[in-house]
Amino acid sequence: MTLTFTVTWIFWLCQIRGRCLSQVVQPRVPPGQQVPCFYIFGDSLVDNGNNNGILTLARANYRPYGIDFPGGATGRFTNGRTYVDALAQLLGFPTYIAPYSRARGLELLRGANYASGAAGIREETGSNLGAHTSLNEQVANFGNTVQQLRRFFRGDNESLNSYLNKCLFFSGMGSNDYLNNYFMSDFYSTSSDYTVKAFASVLLQDYSRKLSQLYSLGARKVMVTAVGQIGCIPYQLARFHGNSSRCNEKINNAISLFNSGLKTMVQNFNGGQLPGAKFVYLDFYQSSQDLSSNGTSYGNSLWLRHAF
Ligand SMILES: *[C@@H]1O[C@H](CO)[C@@H](O)[C@H](O)[C@H]1NC(C)=O
Ligand SMILES: *[C@@H]1O[C@H](CO)[C@@H](O)[C@H](O)[C@H]1NC(C)=O
Ligand SMILES: *[C@@H]1O[C@H](CO)[C@@H](O)[C@H](O)[C@H]1NC(C)=O
Repeated sequence: MTLTFTVTWIFWLCQIRGRCLSQVVQPRVPPGQQVPCFYIFGDSLVDNGNNNGILTLARANYRPYGIDFPGGATGRFTNGRTYVDALAQLLGFPTYIAPYSRARGLELLRGANYASGAAGIREETGSNLGAHTSLNEQVANFGNTVQQLRRFFRGDNESLNSYLNKCLFFSGMGSNDYLNNYFMSDFYSTSSDYTVKAFASVLLQDYSRKLSQLYSLGARKVMVTAVGQIGCIPYQLARFHGNSSRCNEKINNAISLFNSGLKTMVQNFNGGQLPGAKFVYLDFYQSSQDLSSNGTSYGNSLWLRHAF
């Protein structure tokens, strides 16, 4: 970690025995870094090691994962960097954002990554693969982080909030609610409980509540990603066609419904539902379509192996 913080120790007159030292932290943003902090929520597309210590099939801390990553197999579900690793670099962060499972103390001021492979918006999503941290728990973990940060700000909620308001938040959820829930009817009942349209609607209501909780905890600049074309990943092609000739349009159509609702939700948040918030809708559906049609021109298409 090359992070620099200005830590000032103040001797503090106090009545409570023994507690006469109070720490004041003024986070100093390295030159060229565009935001002071970056907090990440999501699934295996952005998980960077939170599942390493838990019992699950959705784990990636072994080769060939990480073969093109300087740190080797870290728990990232990819050969190299994740999307948010690249984004952190573009934003000028000197090092990647640490997984929440390892982030400690002052490091939390520059951000943390709460993402967990197999996680979904719904609590039960992904449990076919084992343990993981659902979105609900990821938001709760961020709540714990905020409590820790409050201590660094000596309980000054106003300063803490004005700090958090400058941070960037990333939320990429939903793929597993389809892959490892709705379209896995031998394990989950959602496809008999809901039509595709009703499912997208309950999913979005749930998601909206959780994003609003992040807002209540201080998030103001939030990137929300659409679900990609998961009907085209080999996991699905193998399950539905037994060959790689065609995408599963039933899944892609379901995803499109979810995505269009998500876009509306973002517009509503920005349109006054969450005052002062700036949400950005990131069209992963289009970019993944580009990747699957034009994969070779991007050098590799390892992302397509993605199953969690
Ligand atoms: C700061 O916010 C927390 C959580 O909302 C609250 O429990 C606490 O009382 C607040 N502190 C002050 C000084 O307002
Ligand atoms: C691949 O799947 C498609 C769609 O089900 C089918 O029409 C085609 O015959 C299959 N090709 C092979 C080689 O199995
Ligand atoms: C694939 O790349 C070509 C050339 O850059 C572009 O015109 C086309 O729109 C891309 N396909 C998709 C699905 O984005």
